[in-house]
Amino acid sequence: MKPSIVILAAGMGKRMRSNRPKVLAPLAGEALLAHVLKTARALDPARIVVVYGNGGEAVRDAFPDPGILWARQNEQLGTADALAAALPQLPENGAVLVLCGDVPLLRAQTLAPLVEAADDALVVLTAKLDDPHGYGRILRTGDGTVTGIVEERDANASERAVNEVNTGVIAAPAGRLRDWLPRIGNDNAQGEYYLTDAVALAVGDGVAVQGVEARDVRETRGINHRAELAAAEAVLRARRAEALMSEGAVLADPARVDVRGEVACGRDVFIDINVILGGRVKLGDGARIGAGCVISDAEIGAQADIQPYSVIEHARVGAQARVGPYARLRPGSELAEEAHVGNFVEIKNTKLGRGSKANHLAYLGDAEIGRGVNVGAGVITCNYDGAAKHRTVIGDEAFIGSDCPLVAPVTIGRGATVGAGSVITQDVPPDTLALGRSRQMTIEGWERPMKQRDETEEK
Ligand code: UD1
Ligand code: CA
Repeated sequence: MKPSIVILAAGMGKRMRSNRPKVLAPLAGEALLAHVLKTARALDPARIVVVYGNGGEAVRDAFPDPGILWARQNEQLGTADALAAALPQLPENGAVLVLCGDVPLLRAQTLAPLVEAADDALVVLTAKLDDPHGYGRILRTGDGTVTGIVEERDANASERAVNEVNTGVIAAPAGRLRDWLPRIGNDNAQGEYYLTDAVALAVGDGVAVQGVEARDVRETRGINHRAELAAAEAVLRARRAEALMSEGAVLADPARVDVRGEVACGRDVFIDINVILGGRVKLGDGARIGAGCVISDAEIGAQADIQPYSVIEHARVGAQARVGPYARLRPGSELAEEAHVGNFVEIKNTKLGRGSKANHLAYLGDAEIGRGVNVGAGVITCNYDGAAKHRTVIGDEAFIGSDCPLVAPVTIGRGATVGAGSVITQDVPPDTLALGRSRQMTIEGWERPMKQRDETEEK
């Protein structure tokens, strides 16, 4: 039987000092809760119930996935009360895994054994920490049997000395939880209903209790304040850099590449320092990504060379194309193989054909540009008339001289040449030369005005 998963996400998150609910705080570009949901889905559960409350509908609205069930906890009375809010949405039987919305680094493979054991036992994921301060401590008898969990604020000195802590992850049979939750009181230092009290109830009922120690304690870290958020970011950065390297990427410095999404990476890809990859990015074999590039939702072809400080968003770059330095490819840009886009060139919703070049200072928007086209410096597609956007079409092998505004809608024929400094407002037929500029004049014997000598200035 598939397990159900409950994610507790109704807490206040006061220590973050933020106006936004804690579970929406971004980690590697996605909300904390998004990370927990991803892990939950990887376990293929029968259902996922998220308990929300503080921050209200903002949390719910951030996750429009119809596969998520929501349970509202109106007052934050503690983790047992939070789980109780989810009970009506849980099946009668089967294992229930409880996760916390503020523990984002846990991996599915760490949780799978807990779920398996929770058919007839209460299982707690524990961690041994050098500094267990703030966490609930795991109490065991001499032979290792778990007898309870005591919260930091309720613990005596010897209990506080225990360094094995509750990670907040608990799994148990649904039927047992229905029995235990109403029996949990709030007579403790915080006046809260502690889910952790279920452990002592299980022991009293003769239900087996297992403490499973996490192998990698970094996974179990909760986020309560900003410094912990930054530490989690570093853990995730390292984890994702490792994944890139295992796919065959060379990273100039694994500590200076941020993956904020999903990256599929070919072999022998080189990524220089301070690169940010977001959304869904595909990097072809042998692609090179220069320093400081920000690339999101993009496909970079094999052997393509993205030079430093280029920004690429919702775009495709063909094999062996060259982009940058300092280029910007906006949504809908498609560069064919061997196209070149150089410094200070902005491209939007434009196809640039095979081997075509726009090497310096241009804006190409809403355009369809053929093969082998040369776009000179300072060429601008005037695609917007203040009301609507219009298209520019440039045929194969055309040559557009420097500093030409192409006023769309307009078509430049195949093999046509546009002289530098031309304002193009009419279609240019194929294989012709178009000039749209005033003729140069020469004025013989012209005298440059001289500055008048001001007598008073001398003194
Ligand atoms: C909890 C555990 C503690 C454990 C620690 C691990 C209890 C009583 N204590 O403590 O043993 O070491 O997590 O991180 O369970 N929440 C609600 N509603 C509430 C209260 C909390 O949804 O009324 C949610 C929070 O949003 C959070 C999670 O439950 O995601 C844990 O709550 P938090 O207040 O952070 O508990 P801790 O004091 O950290
Ligand atoms: Ca916490």
